[in-house]
Amino acid sequence: MTAPVVEANNLKRVYEVRRGLFKEPGRLQAVGGVSFSIAPGKTLAVVGESGCGKSTLARMVTLIEKPTEGTLTLDGMDAIHPPAGKAKDLRRTVQLVFQNPYGSLNPRKKVGTILEEPLAINTSLSAAERTERARAMMAKVGLRPEHYNRYPHMFSGGQRQRIAIARALMLSPKLVVADEPVSALDVSIQAQVLNLLADLQQEMGLAYLFISHDLSVVRHIADDVMVMYLGLTVEQGPKERIYERPLHPYTQALLSSTPSMSGAKRKRIVLKGELPSPLNPPKGCVFSTRCPYVTERCRIERPALRPIDGRLVACHYAENFLAEQPA
Ligand SMILES: Nc1ncnc2c1ncn2[C@@H]1O[C@H](COP(=O)(O)OP(=O)(O)OP(=O)(O)O)[C@@H](O)[C@H]1O
Ligand SMILES: [Mg+2]
Repeated sequence: MTAPVVEANNLKRVYEVRRGLFKEPGRLQAVGGVSFSIAPGKTLAVVGESGCGKSTLARMVTLIEKPTEGTLTLDGMDAIHPPAGKAKDLRRTVQLVFQNPYGSLNPRKKVGTILEEPLAINTSLSAAERTERARAMMAKVGLRPEHYNRYPHMFSGGQRQRIAIARALMLSPKLVVADEPVSALDVSIQAQVLNLLADLQQEMGLAYLFISHDLSVVRHIADDVMVMYLGLTVEQGPKERIYERPLHPYTQALLSSTPSMSGAKRKRIVLKGELPSPLNPPKGCVFSTRCPYVTERCRIERPALRPIDGRLVACHYAENFLAEQPA
């Protein structure tokens, strides 16, 4: 087995939130202890509704923010307390691609400059070598040579995301964290960008942490899936297991609008009610206020994430759902 590119153990992030002059600050647990590892060439998809902690997780894994608790290893190095003199190497191993490529690309710089900048800052390559690398990367992501001298506003959304992907890859990272990279694009363009990401992964052996609110988007690109709700993992495991037989009612609800891999119809589950406030999460199971199968036990006792049927599930009644969906 090859060593994983990233290994996270019980990563937590808590924010202190002010609630007014005379009130104690609230404690908002954006990510409540998640663990995963990703091997080279593999993709972990992180899925969940708005506010479940996906971007917070992305910021921790890309070293923008330190976790409150937990450990993070990138390319074999302790990423939270990096070995002396290794901080720069560590930063080069991981890159972030955002949802909105327009916001993340400097509008005053030409594509060529945008791509060469990371090389100018981090390497001792000559100007000619930098240009050569930038042009080679442009070809790789499907941009044309004449695009080199254009500004970001002259491109379509899909092309801009290609520029952002190219920039992220200039320093040959081992891990790319993509936070909703196709959510702002038309469906037809989404597929093109997803195919590009898959091709680049194969070619460069990249590991992806791919964030989306939509399970149907990650279906083809994911190897493993982690479903999050209110900062906690509710189900995690190989894609096939999760799509064929989702065992957590929240995963079932997310999947109920998409046909299963074998084309079978799924039981349709419509989630009622609002997502609870992360400042005041339900005491027992975090999903208990919206779960169609909730019992008294769920309201009192938080289910642990436990192995069942080749994946991890945090539901007291996962066995019942297993029996309901024979393989
Ligand atoms: N800097 C911060 N200070 C206080 N609270 C924060 C901060 N950043 C995020 N949060 C809170 O943490 C929770 C998780 O936010 P996060 O942005 O990680 O969610 P998300 O899953 O990425 O959502 P979306 O799908 O809308 O992008 C939210 O309740 C959010 O309000
Ligand atoms: Mg987000």
